[in-house]
Amino acid sequence: MSLPARVKLVEVAPRDGLQNEKNFIPTAIKIELVERLADAGFPNVEAASFVSPKWVPQMADGAQVMAGIRRKPGTIYSVLTPNMKGFEGALAARADEVVIFGAASEAFSQRNINCSIAESIARFEPVAQAAKSAGMRLRGSISCALGCPYQGEVPVESVVDVAQRFLALGCDEIDVADTIGVGTPLLTRKVMSAVTAKVDPARVSGHFHDTYGQALANILASLETGISIFHASVSGLGGCPYAKGATGNVATEDVVYMLRGLGIETGVNFDALVDIGQWISGHLDRKGGSRAGNATAAKRAA
Ligand code: HMG
Ligand code: MG
Repeated sequence: MSLPARVKLVEVAPRDGLQNEKNFIPTAIKIELVERLADAGFPNVEAASFVSPKWVPQMADGAQVMAGIRRKPGTIYSVLTPNMKGFEGALAARADEVVIFGAASEAFSQRNINCSIAESIARFEPVAQAAKSAGMRLRGSISCALGCPYQGEVPVESVVDVAQRFLALGCDEIDVADTIGVGTPLLTRKVMSAVTAKVDPARVSGHFHDTYGQALANILASLETGISIFHASVSGLGGCPYAKGATGNVATEDVVYMLRGLGIETGVNFDALVDIGQWISGHLDRKGGSRAGNATAAKRAA
């Protein structure tokens, strides 16, 4: 199959990238990160979570982040909403898109959102209905689609089943997420092919954590199955608090570098992105987590 001419990149660093940070990051830094990413050309920035602050303290200032950002016209600002309480926060914050997040693994569903897969779908129903009546976009994220930290292998049928349930809820987009970054290209191709046999590929996205260094290869495998939406986190920031040992999402700089080499358009300014990666890594007191970003910064300094 020929590769798409254009890919939509969703920048998830302000949410997935920061949620696992131990020290509380000032709201002003979160706001600046969201603004700079939108200015760099991302059509979609995942900006905050409206989840329990007891479960994920780093995301407790979601309302302030959303109230503080200067919004770039046309950019979609997404937030995570596990239940109606989260949805009400998202509505008040004028989010463009709400994200319901379930799992293809029962064990992970219990640890991450404290309920079974079936219970989570029932909880998402009113959120989905409210989002649709409010004219908001709705996205559904499927965790552990390529493996689970508690259960190990996850049957492909479970991923397809949750994808179909999300479709029935009215999701505009469905994320196939490798939460712990264990997937390899063969499995990625198998899962993406099975999901896109039931869901229009234009609505399916790949969300790859890079724990085992497979994320770029998995993106290429997904491109070959017709997927053209990917999530990435600048400087490879992140991890899930309920997936111990899992590292961040694939670094956006690396993804943009690869896509550029493949002649695929993203609309993202690579140089601005490298600057953002170096800036936020400096704030977090660590070296940049993107190979392409660090190489570019080193070349500039030489
Ligand atoms: P629960 O304890 O079962 O819920 O948590 P509850 O309804 O019994 O509420 C307990 C308390 O939380 C109450 O407060 C609620 O008011 C409060 P209390 O009365 O004890 O003071 N509460 C809330 N507060 C603010 N906003 C809310 C909210 N809901 C309840 N929306 C719940 C269930 C889902 C809320 C909880 O488990 C939770 O918040 N989990 C957080 C999960 C999370 O954020 N995980 C990380 C993001 S997912 C991810 O990273 C994966 C992804 O990247 C894809 C991938 O890589 O796989 C998307
Ligand atoms: Mg994630």
